[in-house]
Amino acid sequence: SISVVIAGGGSTYTPEIILMLLANLDRLPLRCIKLYDNDGERQGKLASAVKILIEERDPSIEFVATTDPKIAYTDVDFCLAHIRVGQLPMRELDEKIPLKYGVVGQETCGPGGLAYGLRSIPGVIENIDYMEKYSPNCWMLNYSNPAAIVAEACRRLRPHSRVINICDMPIGLEDSFARILGFKSRKQLDYRYFGLNHFGWYTSVKDPDGNELLPKLVEHELKYGNTMPGESMDDYTDHTWYDTALKVKDIVSLDPSMAPNSYLQYYLFPDDMVAHSDPQYTRANMVMDGREKRVFGECARIAEAGTAEGTSLRIGIHAEFIVDLATALAFNTHERMLLIVPNNGAIENFDPKAMVEIPCIVGKDGYEPLSIGTIPTFQKGLMYEQVCVEKLVVDAYEQHSYLKMLQAMSLSKTVPSANVAKKILDELIVANEGYWPEL
Ligand code: G6P
Repeated sequence: SISVVIAGGGSTYTPEIILMLLANLDRLPLRCIKLYDNDGERQGKLASAVKILIEERDPSIEFVATTDPKIAYTDVDFCLAHIRVGQLPMRELDEKIPLKYGVVGQETCGPGGLAYGLRSIPGVIENIDYMEKYSPNCWMLNYSNPAAIVAEACRRLRPHSRVINICDMPIGLEDSFARILGFKSRKQLDYRYFGLNHFGWYTSVKDPDGNELLPKLVEHELKYGNTMPGESMDDYTDHTWYDTALKVKDIVSLDPSMAPNSYLQYYLFPDDMVAHSDPQYTRANMVMDGREKRVFGECARIAEAGTAEGTSLRIGIHAEFIVDLATALAFNTHERMLLIVPNNGAIENFDPKAMVEIPCIVGKDGYEPLSIGTIPTFQKGLMYEQVCVEKLVVDAYEQHSYLKMLQAMSLSKTVPSANVAKKILDELIVANEGYWPEL
């Protein structure tokens, strides 16, 4: 059976991922679960509760929480990596600094996403190096954000490492599609998709008999986005996601032959997104005041009570992709999954060296991308601009280059002028002292 380490053990997402792993022991039997974080204090607040969750489900599973990379990475088969360099207070700055200048403030899109990218690269590379040193056969299932820039850094800086970059966003979208089309599970449908991470389009959604349902899906989206008729903000506990689901309507209207990833809203309608943001209170604040308090509070309660009975912690449904991916690698299931991989000709008329998000077949030797063919001019143009932005951030990291970072920010579709790009960059440099290489 299998041993896993969760890198970024102190994440608010960790307990629900643990519950997801524990709910799937029949598919993915585990002998050991480790939590690893460089912030031992933060991780410690979750670890006592996680220990109880595991013991109550299966006392034969060994549990370790550590800040020592050697202990963390020795004798592990999978590393589930979801590190957040700078934690939520730095996310807050990524979001608020651009908004001060009327530019999209988001953790993976726009200047804040680029800032976060530059911060994340050394942390991800450090973890890959520990993994290779202590467990050379381990696979890293990497969903650390911002996934697109992190993936490009992996391609360039650690091209031969056993790292698979993956994002949960498609799972959330496919859940909505299944709901809209009247299916119980996203797994009943077959999808075709191409794009970059947080930047792509579904070109086909088929039912189990092979009937094409995309026109029906798009017709719905043009009216209701990814919400259901009659649904309102009150039906959503998370209002940010309600807005995102609704906005899909506008994105689809630009090309009704495809069902888009909702993050395209930040690139195609940055003015609307900014108008809709509160520069004083962003998503980071919502997460710190909401999920962080809830999860840490509940973990403290469990630790105090000595039992997880009646816990309000829920299985992270979106984290199911991690179990699917690990199971595919461990047991050669040949599951088809969307991964972020080198294009290498899969999209014929696109940069072979771009990291793209496309369907792949996953088995014990890794993944094989499916061929996509050619893509239309509108999507290709948008993607090429964005992929160059992502590449420039990795250039900036490698060359310690202010100019490359300025070019990245000026090229981003979310930034209206190079004047604004420079102001935002200069402020982000100060905010990221100690995290960024010296530019
Ligand atoms: C989605 C995205 C992730 C992102 C997350 C943020 O799942 O795919 O890339 O990290 O949302 O969620 P949060 O609740 O922290 O804003």
